[in-house]
Amino acid sequence: MSPVPVKAEQAEIPVTQTNSLPVYSQEEVTKHCSIEKGVWVTYKGGVYDITDFVTVHPGGDKILLAAGKALEPFWALYGVHEQEHVLEILSEYKVGILRAEDSKKDDIKSADPYSTDPTRHPALIVNSVKPFNAEPPPAILTDNYITPSDIFFKRNHLPVPHIDPKTYRLEIEGLPGGTVSLTLDDLKTLFPKRTLIATIQCAGNRRSEMNKVKQVKGLNWGIAAISNAKWSGAYLRDVLYHYGFSPEVAAKARHVQFEGLDVDVTGTPYGASIPINKAMSEEGDVLLAYKMNGEDLPADHGFPVRAIVPGVVGARNIKWLGKIVISEEESQSHWQQNDYKGFSPGTDWDTVDFKSAPAIQELPVQSAITNLADGSSIDRDMDKVTVKGYAWSGGGREVVRVDVSLDGGKTWHVAKLQSSEEIESSAPSPPPGRAWAWKLWEIEIPLPEGAQELEVVCKAVDSSYNTQPDSVAPIWNLRGVLTNAWHQVRVKVK
Ligand code: MTE
Repeated sequence: MSPVPVKAEQAEIPVTQTNSLPVYSQEEVTKHCSIEKGVWVTYKGGVYDITDFVTVHPGGDKILLAAGKALEPFWALYGVHEQEHVLEILSEYKVGILRAEDSKKDDIKSADPYSTDPTRHPALIVNSVKPFNAEPPPAILTDNYITPSDIFFKRNHLPVPHIDPKTYRLEIEGLPGGTVSLTLDDLKTLFPKRTLIATIQCAGNRRSEMNKVKQVKGLNWGIAAISNAKWSGAYLRDVLYHYGFSPEVAAKARHVQFEGLDVDVTGTPYGASIPINKAMSEEGDVLLAYKMNGEDLPADHGFPVRAIVPGVVGARNIKWLGKIVISEEESQSHWQQNDYKGFSPGTDWDTVDFKSAPAIQELPVQSAITNLADGSSIDRDMDKVTVKGYAWSGGGREVVRVDVSLDGGKTWHVAKLQSSEEIESSAPSPPPGRAWAWKLWEIEIPLPEGAQELEVVCKAVDSSYNTQPDSVAPIWNLRGVLTNAWHQVRVKVK
């Protein structure tokens, strides 16, 4: 797309730049706001025609949000752009200079929306700072059955919103009496307080293993984008029945949509939805949680209220919950429609059709080794090798067995599962189909004589006898989600 320069006389400014690029007014830049008209953006006084870059933008067509505008507020929101190579790419697309008075305008200045994010625990391994995404080191992940909130993995798409609990309102739409607006106090006092232990796992957990097969798009999570906490709040179904959910509503409703109070630069909130039967079933246990591990939800985990949808991918457990909509339709949010879906290893970014795949809800069975790192060594004088880890399955399917091998899967040993009862004497064993919490496991296996290297592998089996696939390549997908192959670490014997 060749630029149409605004003549300096027309722009009524002298051409003061030292290079020979033309000067454009903001008005001219604004006209280039679509693929058809060309996609122009400005950055620190430069004008860039990025039309040809749109199709290769790693973040997809979200880049079009900035079409005809300044990049600064968008880059402030997506901190991944603060890298030298990104500026290098941008520089290739420079077509002009922004008129001096236009580049001083307020909307170009970027107040950092992340400046009020909470401070985080120094032990966390940070995958991205803005937005903040981090996981605990595997070695400490399974030290506790209940993950302390400080080191519970954190997955934010946007800046953390700061919500005054006194003015907080949760809106519910789609019930016969019209929109309902609840205070935090209503939630705490009108409904019984329910407590459950549930594991949350991000769809991208273990993505780094997919990256080793072939590069995927997304944060390079290790094995700890998963954690387990005790959540308290009101059952979603108690609240919806209280405000008039009826057989007539049930006859039409198919989904419950959630909206967060965290918004992007266009004011669009993070959102997702879950099927109505999960939301309303007596066995679904969906919580509007206001406590995590016995305390108010921390800012990073959704203060003052979040949805806990046990057994379902983390992406649907909406934090900073602002709105619930009972609907015939799924959430139309980007994260429900164009993300968090699985595809064939043969599907690439040129052929992918997000409409063709269902949104991920229940996750498949998962396990990982936490006490031995890939490439680490153990002492050959030890007669036994201790292997520890976690195992969990989606949909409330209980993990019934974890198999561990020291020889890459040729011979297997059954690990000892730690149950919730052992850890939390107050927590009764969950009824069938409602095993929301992970199981920690451990095994000691005699060190094979003369072994120089061990290929330590684990795989879990759930109550439906689902088990994990043996390798990553056949489940590789372009977004790097649903990585649940046997977890394997190579350990040297020295
Ligand atoms: N809710 C809102 N409002 N905004 C978000 O960015 N991230 C989702 C989900 N809920 C998110 C959200 C994703 S992808 C995951 S995996 C979980 O929150 C992570 O929850 P945690 O940060 O409490 O571990």
